[in-house]
Amino acid sequence: MGREKKITKAYKSSKNYYDDALTGEKWWAKVYMNGIWGANDWEIAKRLFNYIPKEFGGRLLDVPTGTGLFTAEKYKKMPNAKITALDYSETMLEKARVRFADCRNVECVQGDVGALPFDDGAFDVILSMNGFHAFPDKDVAFKETARVLKPGGLFIATFYLKKERKITDLFVKTVLEKKGFFTPPYWTKNELETILRGYYADVELRTEGGTVALRCVK
Ligand SMILES: C[S@@+](CC[C@H](N)C(=O)[O-])C[C@H]1O[C@@H](n2cnc3c(N)ncnc32)[C@H](O)[C@@H]1O
Repeated sequence: MGREKKITKAYKSSKNYYDDALTGEKWWAKVYMNGIWGANDWEIAKRLFNYIPKEFGGRLLDVPTGTGLFTAEKYKKMPNAKITALDYSETMLEKARVRFADCRNVECVQGDVGALPFDDGAFDVILSMNGFHAFPDKDVAFKETARVLKPGGLFIATFYLKKERKITDLFVKTVLEKKGFFTPPYWTKNELETILRGYYADVELRTEGGTVALRCVK
């Protein structure tokens, strides 16, 4: 099976438990997030949102938007922003459209991070939550997200970082990668910093459990 097909199938099959797993509200999701990841995605999302300027009125690209789980409430409080929520999976977008129904400032777009249908420098902010460990061609994903960001624009993201936690590495390799949720290669903190410095003038990385939260300025 091709990589794109495997990823699409994985996220389609997860539609009924994806949100529960990431919210960490059910007991098994708590075990998953605390035990396997040692991180709280809600806290990380809050930290990333704090990087967005107050009263932000520019264009923001959310890629991949998934089901809009972490972002819908925040977007309701950003009425002046023009937000594009892009994902490859129509199944994930179906859920996102329901979540964003009250957000008149959000447009959902089906598309590929590797071939973004936007002009160079079209966005002021790019938000990427839990995407880079899933994207099949990461070099192209870095190139495309940097291309559509304005000079001086903000790239804020979180995703899996290898060699931070043994249990996370093991789970990624034996479960998430096999099922098609994650696609290698992955990076250590130093490797990632080197890649980001090739695209961005300012780079700040912060690790939490098996993940990294980052803020870069182009
Ligand atoms: C783990 S989810 C993250 C979604 C959301 N940001 C969140 O944190 O809940 C990963 C998403 O990446 C999407 N995806 C995978 N490959 C993609 C690609 N090439 N272009 C755009 N989205 C892609 C999947 O469809 C899935 O919705």
